[in-house]
Amino acid sequence: MDMQLSACAKLNLSLDVLSRREDGYHDLRMVMQTVALSDRLTLKKTAGEGVRVSTDLHYLPDDERNLAAIAFRRFQESTGWSDPGWSIRIEKHIPVCAGMGGGSADAAAVLRALNRISGLELPLARLAQIGEKVGSDVPYCVLGGTALAEGKGERLTVLPPMPDCFIVICKPPFPISTPELFGSIDCKRIRCRPDTEGILSALQNADLDGVARRLYNVFEDVLTDRRGAEIAEIKCEMVSGGALGAAMSGTGPTVFGLFREEDRARNVYHALRSHYADTFLTHPV
Ligand code: C5P
Repeated sequence: MDMQLSACAKLNLSLDVLSRREDGYHDLRMVMQTVALSDRLTLKKTAGEGVRVSTDLHYLPDDERNLAAIAFRRFQESTGWSDPGWSIRIEKHIPVCAGMGGGSADAAAVLRALNRISGLELPLARLAQIGEKVGSDVPYCVLGGTALAEGKGERLTVLPPMPDCFIVICKPPFPISTPELFGSIDCKRIRCRPDTEGILSALQNADLDGVARRLYNVFEDVLTDRRGAEIAEIKCEMVSGGALGAAMSGTGPTVFGLFREEDRARNVYHALRSHYADTFLTHPV
């Protein structure tokens, strides 16, 4: 049996880091949104043993370190379901190490697939719990849509859907290490925090402008070097091209902007695309 499914990227409409925890992680408060930009996964039954992962990007791990393989094993361990011999092929479209949860989305897609294949049909909340053992963003990726994520990212509240809009996504070509960025943030010295309550009420009122003007990510303030300047320039280009608001997603470096009008979004998309290969025009899902 073959199964094909898509794994949607996420954006952080807001990201606040509240405190450092005893376990070294951080307590977060984030408004999350999935977008149509997605990876494509194909799961196939094989004659072999265990699970084999392959991707179309040569630099991604294709062994047990791949989050898709970890998700497969965590599902088996947590449910007792065992059915050796599966291959998972991942066609990547979501930029890697970008702050868009690409690896977490793939892992969540594997959990959703196994939930069907196994016939267990676990509730999403249980599947999200299994996802917690794979990575902090995986529970949200299991749920998808518009949600508030708290704690390490595993405490989820479903929110009213984000009003329809056009989203330009642009990833500059430098990496940012997630553990390094978390390591360099000092929660007591964060000067500016997102107006999370304001975003929540804007979502309640289906107020796109209200959401867009409150987009904010505390990590933007931590990047004080050349990378931060480039991120600020991309945001500026989006806003001057008609974005209602723009921000960095997750631990970056991806920048996104929300647009009401398709033609403005398309113009900004084309302008940025001429400098940055990883530029996309998408919409919320
Ligand atoms: O859970 P995950 O493996 O995706 O997290 C990657 C890294 O991000 C962690 O090693 C940690 O440094 C940081 N992190 C954090 N607090 C969170 C989530 C992630 O400090 N809530």
